[in-house]
Amino acid sequence: MNQKTYYIETYGCQMNVYDSELVSNMMKLSGYKQTNDLEAADAIFLNTCSIREKAEETVHNRLNNFQHLKRKKPSMLIGVLGCMAQNLKDVLLEDKPYVDIILGPDSYRNLPKIIKDRSKTSEHLVDTKLSKFEIYDDLFPARTEGVNSWVSIMRGCDKFCTFCIVPFTRGRERSRPIDSIISEIKDGVKDGFVEFTLLGQNVNSYKTPDGKFPTLLDEVAKIEGVKRLRFTSPHPRDVDDHMLQVMSKHDNICNQIHLPLQAGSDRILKRMNRTYTSTEFLNLVDKIRQYIPSCALTTDIIVGFPGETEDEFLETLSVVEKVEFNSAYMFKYSSRPGTKASQYDEHITEDEKQDRLERLIDLQLNKTLIQNKKHIGKISNVLVEKVSKKSNDQWSGRTEGGTWVVFDKTNEKIGDIIDVKIDDARGVTLFGSRTYQGYNYEVA
Ligand code: SAH
Ligand code: SF4
Ligand code: F3S
Repeated sequence: MNQKTYYIETYGCQMNVYDSELVSNMMKLSGYKQTNDLEAADAIFLNTCSIREKAEETVHNRLNNFQHLKRKKPSMLIGVLGCMAQNLKDVLLEDKPYVDIILGPDSYRNLPKIIKDRSKTSEHLVDTKLSKFEIYDDLFPARTEGVNSWVSIMRGCDKFCTFCIVPFTRGRERSRPIDSIISEIKDGVKDGFVEFTLLGQNVNSYKTPDGKFPTLLDEVAKIEGVKRLRFTSPHPRDVDDHMLQVMSKHDNICNQIHLPLQAGSDRILKRMNRTYTSTEFLNLVDKIRQYIPSCALTTDIIVGFPGETEDEFLETLSVVEKVEFNSAYMFKYSSRPGTKASQYDEHITEDEKQDRLERLIDLQLNKTLIQNKKHIGKISNVLVEKVSKKSNDQWSGRTEGGTWVVFDKTNEKIGDIIDVKIDDARGVTLFGSRTYQGYNYEVA
C-alpha cells in the first residue's frame, strides 16, 4: 500500500511555524509523509491565526476552496489547527461541515489518536481545551530546511493587552524547563542549524524554578555551535538589566531587540493596558543603547485604536521619529470579538485608519533607509541564508540586526557567517560585496 500523505499550510506568527513542525513530527510518527501536492494529500491541515480580521478571512477563503477537493476525494481529512480553531470552532462547525478535525494549540498531542479514530467515525473531531501545563516538552519538531531553528521556550500570555486575542487563543503563560530547551538546541546543532531563535508570545516573561529569561539566554549562548542566537517577542516591561548584561557579554547573541511600542500616546497606551508610558519606553531605548550601542531595534505599532485622536496619532509619529527603529510591523487596529477594546466605543473609520497607516509607513520607511545608509562603506557580519530571489548568482543573508543583504556569490556556502562590505542601501535591503583580508574597513 502507498504511504499516506499530509499537507500543511501555516498562517500567523513564528509560534505557529514551530507548532506546524511539531504537528509534522507527529504525522510522521503516525506513518504519514509530507507532500506539497494538495490535491493528492490524504490529510490537509491549515494552522491558523486570529490576530486580525484579515488573517481569519484568508483562512475562510482558503477553506472554501477545499470544499471541491473533498468532493473529488471524500476520504480526504481536512483539519483546522491553531488560534482560529480555538477561537471560532462553532462558526467553523456550522459553516464548513466538510472540516473533519478542529484542534486548538494545546491539543496537538491528541492528533495521532484522532487520525486513527477518524477512520472509524464520520463525526467531527473537536478538541480546543486550553491547558495550564501543555508545553510539548517531550515532542521534538520535525525541521526540514534552512539555517534557523525556532525553539519554543514558553507558551501563552497573561498580559491581556485590550486589543489582543492571543491570551484567549493561547491560554495562560507556562515555561519549559531549561534542560529540555538545551537538549533541543544541541540536537539542532548536530542537525546542522547555526542560528536559533527562542520563541514565546512573551519570550522574556520566561520563568522556571531554575531561572528566568536572562539565565536561559546565558546558558543557551554557551552551547558550542550556536553561531547566532535571537529571541522574539519580548515585552518592554520584562526587559531588565540582567537581560541586557547577558546580551552584551555574548558575541553570538545578535544585537537586535524587537520592542513592540504599539502607540506613542500615554492615554492610548493605558487604554491598551501596555503598562508603560512613552517616556518609560524612550528611557528603555536609551538604556538598551547604553548597554549595546549598535543594537538594532524593531517594533510593532497599531494605528487607529478606538478613541485615538489625530493628536494622539501624532504622538506615535513623534516616538517613531525619536527612536529611529530599524524597521517596524505596522497595523490598522482590527476589532477582535471577545477582547476588551472591541467593546470600547469611538471606533475609528477605515479611511482614517488607512490614512494614518500610510503616514506612519512613510515616516518609518524613511527611518529604515537612514539606518541602513549608516552601514554603507562599512563591514557587516552576514549569515548566508539563501539564494537571492533576484539572481542565482547572488546570496541573501542577514546582518545581526536582521536586515537582508544581497551580494555576489564567491566561495561561501549557506550557513557561513562572513564579512560583507555594504555598498548601497535601497528600499529595506542592503547591497554588498565580499571583502578579503588586507582591507581595512570600519566595522558596522
Ligand atoms: N506578544 C507580542 C505580540 C504578538 S501579536 C507582543 O506583545 O509584542 C503581534 C502584533 O500584532 C502585536 O504586537 C500588535 O502590534 C499586533 N496586533 C495584535 N492584535 C491586534 C489587533 N487587534 N489589531 C491590529 N494589530 C494587532
Ligand atoms: Fe497580545 Fe499583549 Fe500578550 Fe503581546 S503581550 S500577545 S500583544 S496580549
Ligand atoms: Fe496569530 Fe495565534 Fe500567533 S493569533 S499571531 S497565530 S499566537
